[in-house]
Amino acid sequence: MMKKITFGLILVAVIVFTACTKKASPGKTVEKTTNYTTDIVPLLQAKCTPCHLPSKGGNKANFENYEGAKKYGTAMLERVMLNPGDRGFMPFKHAKLPEAEIAIIKKWIDQGLTEK
Ligand code: HEC
Repeated sequence: MMKKITFGLILVAVIVFTACTKKASPGKTVEKTTNYTTDIVPLLQAKCTPCHLPSKGGNKANFENYEGAKKYGTAMLERVMLNPGDRGFMPFKHAKLPEAEIAIIKKWIDQGLTEK
């Protein structure tokens, strides 16, 4: 009888110990915030050029600096979620952005439109 209880207690102790010492899997990095400098600039340079980049000769809403891009953040998302042929669709006269790129813009907004 006593042996059974002792065994039971040890088993519980082992389970609790194992559960509590479970390490975070190595190599798993904390996800960085999606930000203007790292994530949005490359996308804008690839897909919104030259129209929105004054340095490339663009004369539309300026996305080349953080303040400008931040101001239009939600408008960007609204417009890239439209479809070619819809009024206001962006990128103007180009193919619709892939879902992954639309997701980057959405994440940037969801995470607070940060600069870096
Ligand atoms: C070929 C040129 C061209 C490209 C490329 C382009 N745009 Fe535009 N964009 C325009 C024009 C023209 C307007 C103004 C007409 C309008 O509002 O629809 C505009 C307006 C906008 C506006 C509204 C700005 C305002 O003043 O309210 C947003 C937001 C926008 N574009 C987002 C984007 C995004 C995001 C991309 C890239 C994924 C992009 N555009 C690519 C030409 C372009």
